[in-house]
Amino acid sequence: MIAAYSATSQARVNAALETLFNPPSPELARLYDAMRYSVMNGGKRVRPLLAYAACEALGGKAEQANGAACAVELIHAYSLVHDDLPAMDDDDLRRGQPTTHKKFDEACAILAGDGLQSLAFSALLDPRLSTSDAEILLQMVSALALAAGPAGMVGGQAIDLGSVGLKLDQKALEYMHRHKTGALIEVSVKLGALASGRAEKDELKSLQTYAQAIGLAFQVQDDILDVESDTETLGKRQGADIARDKPTYPALLGLDAAKAYALELRDQALHALRPFDAAAEPLRDLARYIVERRS
Ligand code: IPE
Ligand code: IPE
Ligand code: MG
Ligand code: MG
Ligand code: MG
Repeated sequence: MIAAYSATSQARVNAALETLFNPPSPELARLYDAMRYSVMNGGKRVRPLLAYAACEALGGKAEQANGAACAVELIHAYSLVHDDLPAMDDDDLRRGQPTTHKKFDEACAILAGDGLQSLAFSALLDPRLSTSDAEILLQMVSALALAAGPAGMVGGQAIDLGSVGLKLDQKALEYMHRHKTGALIEVSVKLGALASGRAEKDELKSLQTYAQAIGLAFQVQDDILDVESDTETLGKRQGADIARDKPTYPALLGLDAAKAYALELRDQALHALRPFDAAAEPLRDLARYIVERRS
């Protein structure tokens, strides 16, 4: 079920993303190449899948969430390009290929990331991809800006980089994970729900509880995979967190307790979806997938 749902959703978001990388002038070919390279290079597309699934859970059509799906993937891709830079995690491999600064150069990677961030908001507002309801659009833009910015993902990354080599307690680690990874996952669900045009307050609240749990679970599993997967399966260097003495869940709790925590978070997420009918099945499958995935 999740495999078929993923394949259809990945094809849908990839087709929409493909439309966004036409350089407005030949001088910008390299910048646009770098942006395209950073996005159209595989990737599980978990955030777009969540946007589509949330839209469908509320009775919307997946296509209504195309702008939301592109926007969250573009923010994510930008965050990865910058995360891999020498000044940050200094990684050479991403999605099984050279990182953007290795394939191009550092300045180009910084600008590609900057460009992708702006492009995310353009995609969200693109009438070919999004709703034309101005009130809903305003809510979506505001939610995405908050989640991506210094009170969200960027803030989490700042804490991450400021805590290398330090021993964080569980509260501090959770705060970091909820921001650097959780915020964008949470807003993926919210944008998808809003894109349906049918989101009620209580439904948004239940979806938020779901999304907060899987957002944290996603990074806990990312930390687990850094310990027990391999570079080829991951498409990024296994053991990179350990090598850099990053604060992670396995480092703090041990591997078994980290795994148990991921499962507990999955159960919290499933519990939050109890008011929803069968239309929320893809969201339920995604919660299971996030803690079972091997890459
Ligand atoms: C990796 O995200 C970075 C984190 C926020 C943990 P993904 O595991 O979603 O990476 P891709 O998009 O599939 O490459
Ligand atoms: C990245 O976390 C979170 C982002 C906001 C990019 P990681 O540094 O753990 O991601 P990977 O392991 O490099 O994909
Ligand atoms: Mg990092
Ligand atoms: Mg990293
Ligand atoms: Mg990681």
